[in-house]
Amino acid sequence: MIRFDKVTKKFPDGTEALKDISLILPARQLTAIIGPSGCGKTTLMKMVNKLENPTSGAVYIDEEPITGMDEVKLRRSIGYVIQRIGLFPHMTIKENVSLVPKLLDWPADKTERRAEELLKLVGLDPATFMERYPLELSGGQQQRVGVVRALAGDPNIVLMDEPFSALDPISREQLQDELRHLQQEIHKTIVFVTHDMDEALKIADTIVVMRDGRIEQIGSPQQLIDEPANEFVHNFIGAERINQKRSFGDRRLKEFSFLLDLSGTGEAHQVESETTISEAHQLLESSGKPRLAVVENGQVIGFAGERELLKAALHEEKETIV
Ligand SMILES: Nc1ncnc2c1ncn2[C@@H]1O[C@H](COP(=O)(O)OP(=O)(O)OP(=O)(O)O)[C@@H](O)[C@H]1O
Ligand SMILES: [Mg+2]
Repeated sequence: MIRFDKVTKKFPDGTEALKDISLILPARQLTAIIGPSGCGKTTLMKMVNKLENPTSGAVYIDEEPITGMDEVKLRRSIGYVIQRIGLFPHMTIKENVSLVPKLLDWPADKTERRAEELLKLVGLDPATFMERYPLELSGGQQQRVGVVRALAGDPNIVLMDEPFSALDPISREQLQDELRHLQQEIHKTIVFVTHDMDEALKIADTIVVMRDGRIEQIGSPQQLIDEPANEFVHNFIGAERINQKRSFGDRRLKEFSFLLDLSGTGEAHQVESETTISEAHQLLESSGKPRLAVVENGQVIGFAGERELLKAALHEEKETIV
């Protein structure tokens, strides 16, 4: 868990980039920070690995103040994906990905296995890519490597600053899907900065909406859509999206079977695939269970949590599986 306690940041030229930010970023969840350009997202993120320090207030990781922590050690323990990829052009993909494990003194064979495993997870064949240089990869492939490199040292915390912003919409959606599936396996504490509300709604457990150095609202994607705290958040989400969600609520689960989560078992409340999206949502809440098991002809055809229901409500047509 990362906690901001009354954090302010005033730059020497007088710019107040952060104004009294108190915020909890829950462990093992993906929190998206969203807001207009210049609202303080990057500054907020840089406080976590001490690339910036608060003017007042404090940041804690697992309740330990980071003020006293060694910067170098701290940075090695936190994955960081910067906006412009930041791969080293003169190093191969393998060397780029192995940077942090090397600094952490991992044995060579463990480092190599880790690099191979992670490249496979994001759909890059190690045999093809390990010995290539970044310029021999497409933009999307480079961004995948950027993500892999941030995960290589097995950090608990990963900071991602608009990692997909330079991509075309199709590669971008694909990487969003990949990140989501990856997160279902690795459960890192991820802080993800974005400008894009669709991206945030799709991948985040929690969304923090910022404006002008302050937090306007914190909530799950569903909460933001159902109860935008004010005009600004409402406009940011977009009236169109809110109305769309309402009109698709009466469609049935079976129409969205392609969105169902097929992985895992665990606790779930059973519903028929004839149930509407809105009813399903109410049942999910009242059941107290984390997921619904969707039943068709007496068989469970998949699982739906809040995220799948939201995606159905947003009427997403396609889903790319890793
Ligand atoms: N080193 C600095 N010195 C002075 N002002 C700065 C510095 N870094 C950032 N700022 C200012 O602080 C404010 C917040 O900047 P920040 O980079 O955090 O915004 P952001 O939300 O990440 O924006 P974007 O979406 O454009 O990346 C801006 O007004 C910016 O100009
Ligand atoms: Mg920024």
